[in-house]
Amino acid sequence: MGSSTERSVNQATSSRRKVTTTEILARKTGAKITSVTAYDYSTAKLVDSAGIDVILVGDSLGMVMLGYPDTTRVTLDDMVHHTSAVGRARPKALLVADLPFLTFGISIEDTLRNAGRLIREAGAEAVKLEGGVRVRDEIRALVDCQVPVMGHVGLTPQSVHSFGGFKVQGKTEEAADQILRDAVAVQEGGAFSIVLEGIPAALAERITRELDIPTIGIGAGAACDGQVLVIQDMFRQFQDFTPRFVKVYADLGGAMREGLERFGDEVRDGRFPGKEHSF
Ligand code: KIV
Repeated sequence: MGSSTERSVNQATSSRRKVTTTEILARKTGAKITSVTAYDYSTAKLVDSAGIDVILVGDSLGMVMLGYPDTTRVTLDDMVHHTSAVGRARPKALLVADLPFLTFGISIEDTLRNAGRLIREAGAEAVKLEGGVRVRDEIRALVDCQVPVMGHVGLTPQSVHSFGGFKVQGKTEEAADQILRDAVAVQEGGAFSIVLEGIPAALAERITRELDIPTIGIGAGAACDGQVLVIQDMFRQFQDFTPRFVKVYADLGGAMREGLERFGDEVRDGRFPGKEHSF
């Protein structure tokens, strides 16, 4: 990284106030919450320097970093590894890490132990877990042990096999009511915020109105109290597919491929390295 860019990244980060879970909770009535995923040190520094509120080390890393077809194969060790890398960026953004598939929901003791690894070993400041009514008691146990929790309902990717694919949830009145009950259960458990994923905008608006904790949407319309996106989708670094709810902010994937082709050409025809790159 060039030294002037490095300076501006570091300056932007050092002048920010640390974002905490209490600040995110208070944003229910304030400015919209911004959240982006990151899975490594240098991306985390960039995200943080842009003033994003929450860095999420999502288990989406299984798909966009590790090449799995879904998130169910991600392990707790994967999450500890990537969260530690992001943590070393010492972000001012709140650092939230996902509890992967079946590292919660079996027993409260396992859930506490697994969340403890994300906090103690990896430096996460909060954990996110998928589910509603069925995980209310686990959320309560985590919060009682001083582990802040972000909930996640709707199209919860860890349920891909029971949903029969990545399908928008809550389209019938009955399904919508269940998602609302799930969101309320997450709040009752003591979560400080909740992700609403892949649900109709009108349902997300209803949930956002009914809850006292902030909602953070992804594919859930504009009424949520904040928005989150997967960074590899935003910049087309992941190109296997792009969900409809994603906005591409820059084609870094295309720019990287072009740069790589130029590098190949220049090495082959002797234009790289030049004198200025040699000792
Ligand atoms: O794993 C993830 O990145 C997520 C976001 C899509 C909310 O859960």
